[in-house]
Amino acid sequence: MFQAGTERAVSYDNNNTYYIREQTIVPVRLFKTVRTSPNLVNSPTSQTRSELQNQLQRIPRHPPLTPSPASTMSQPSLNQPKLSEHFSKFTPETQGEGWDQLWKKDTTPWDRGEHNPALEDTLLQRRGFLGSALRNEENEEISEGKNVDKRRKKALVPGCGRGFDVFLLAGFGYDAYGLEYSETAVEICRKEAERIGEEGIPVRDAEVGKGRVMFVQGDFFKNDWLEKIGVGEGEFDLIYDYTFFCALNPVLRPKWALRMTQLLAPSPHGNLICLEFPTAKDPAAQGPPFGSPPAAYMEHLSHPGEDLPYENGHVKGNPLREVSPNGMERISHWQPERTHAVGKDDAGNVQDWVAIWRRRN
Ligand SMILES: C[S@@+](CC[C@H](N)C(=O)[O-])C[C@H]1O[C@@H](n2cnc3c(N)ncnc32)[C@H](O)[C@@H]1O
Repeated sequence: MFQAGTERAVSYDNNNTYYIREQTIVPVRLFKTVRTSPNLVNSPTSQTRSELQNQLQRIPRHPPLTPSPASTMSQPSLNQPKLSEHFSKFTPETQGEGWDQLWKKDTTPWDRGEHNPALEDTLLQRRGFLGSALRNEENEEISEGKNVDKRRKKALVPGCGRGFDVFLLAGFGYDAYGLEYSETAVEICRKEAERIGEEGIPVRDAEVGKGRVMFVQGDFFKNDWLEKIGVGEGEFDLIYDYTFFCALNPVLRPKWALRMTQLLAPSPHGNLICLEFPTAKDPAAQGPPFGSPPAAYMEHLSHPGEDLPYENGHVKGNPLREVSPNGMERISHWQPERTHAVGKDDAGNVQDWVAIWRRRN
């Protein structure tokens, strides 16, 4: 049973020093959605609570994280003047080339050397929302036996970097796809997959097992990579965005939101998880990373494809405006207990947010 208490966690501080700390585990809280768009209100429900507890009984506690060699990691920093200077030479349309150049020069200051623990906690604690990583045509419940691999849900990580989150999702049972514009990044991911092998991806739930890991080169905004992996639009059950939204020039946000609606499976099966970062950076400041407060995700995902008004870097929202028919709805939003050090302020307060989004249709 998943209960309140403490457990040991492995982490890095701002100097990338590896340390182990005791951390508090809070009991899982569950909510049902009350549809009052655009901001949805959550309220507790005892039925879903007991459902989740039944599911969680089958999930083993996660094993300690395996730290990557600190020497390969860069210093986390919100201020990356070199990155913004580098990208000033590219247009929003050609910035993919800018990323590829950085990968070729091995300049990856965003790289934290491990998956974000906020994603791990989301997959464990919000399983009541997300469901199993195995699909069942009738009732979405795990049933024993046949064609397990055919029933695996598909997860996408756009702009996956070194692929840490992709490996994590496969361990949770998803067929996990890492998309990268940079061929160099894809090669690094494939080599890492080869190096760690099957054993390097710990299974999180023995009944669900492990999914496949696949890395593909392509532009998020185009379709050719979908053809390469044989997946269609609207077929990803889970999409995870971390440091992808904030990596894009803000003029691309309407296209980013529209693309998410095109790639995600229809509601209620498809879940988009956005780990919102950096929420406290001045949105008017140069990036990447571009300041990405929760309101920016809210406005763009509520109105995909629309050019929205901005003032001093802040998107101008209208809370009374209905979600667009092709828009997404935020069904849950919270601050994670654990996240990378770069998602906290100097006093150690978490500044990141996690949101789960679904299509309206
Ligand atoms: C800031 S990095 C974050 C990488 C990874 N998510 C992480 O947290 O380490 C952004 C990544 O997005 C990739 N990227 C940028 N534009 C892209 C696009 N249009 N399609 C696919 N990948 C893209 C870049 O190559 C880069 O590796």
